[in-house]
Amino acid sequence: MTALLETRNITQRFSGLVANSDVSISVGRGEIVGLIGPNGAGKSTLFNLIAGVFRPTEGSIWFDGEDVTALPAAERCQRGVGRTFQVVKSFETMSVIDNVIVGALVRTTVMREARRKAYEVLEFAGLAARAHVLASDLVPAEKRRLEVARALATQPKLLLLDEVLTGLTPTEAQTGVELVRRVRDTGITVLMVEHVMEIVMPLVDRAIVLDLGKVLVQGKPADVVRDPKVITAYLGDRHAVGA
Ligand SMILES: Nc1ncnc2c1ncn2[C@@H]1O[C@H](COP(=O)(O)OP(=O)(O)OP(=O)(O)O)[C@@H](O)[C@H]1O
Ligand SMILES: [Mg+2]
Repeated sequence: MTALLETRNITQRFSGLVANSDVSISVGRGEIVGLIGPNGAGKSTLFNLIAGVFRPTEGSIWFDGEDVTALPAAERCQRGVGRTFQVVKSFETMSVIDNVIVGALVRTTVMREARRKAYEVLEFAGLAARAHVLASDLVPAEKRRLEVARALATQPKLLLLDEVLTGLTPTEAQTGVELVRRVRDTGITVLMVEHVMEIVMPLVDRAIVLDLGKVLVQGKPADVVRDPKVITAYLGDRHAVGA
């Protein structure tokens, strides 16, 4: 069976800066894949390309067996690409439930149906008790979960999570890890960017390391964390790689 997502030789330039360079990755159906790498490695850029925020300078993106490179973000969302944003993008002056309804309206124009779906997703994300408070009143960990809930309400096949576990207490992060597992158990494929290795490595089936816009290493988490290239990239001593 073909992969759910494939990027083929993706290069993204911003003026002179190469944010992604010849990036070819694939994500199989039902996998949880971790996308890791130092600050500025190009992780969020790759997410934006997959979600269709902009088109790559070079290369193509394949989703569910089709070339989606030319499709706008809304069309990719329709096809099942859901995402969260690294910088939380909730509608602060709207209630939690209304934020999630915005996601649900991707699949239906019937308000009652969108509301029903939104409640279901809030329940799933452990936010049902907060449905009627303003998004601005949520604590940071809840805001992250709201982001996930809104993305889930779009009923994605692929969920892109950009640092949803970052900046949380260990207990909150553990709740987040369990949420990601439960998401996958519903049949949704997950590609997640995360910095904290201790949290992400036990969770993912596979890890892909980006560094300076390129895929540095990919493989099983246990192998990736031991790879000298990865250790060097994280320590910032690039000269020791000898590449
Ligand atoms: N829209 C843009 N215009 C110009 N440069 C950009 C744009 N988006 C990202 N960049 C640059 O591309 C490089 C990669 O950024 P990106 O945000 O993808 O990294 P990242 O791996 O997500 O980093 P972080 O871990 O800090 O979130 C950076 O040098 C960044 O400044
Ligand atoms: Mg980022």
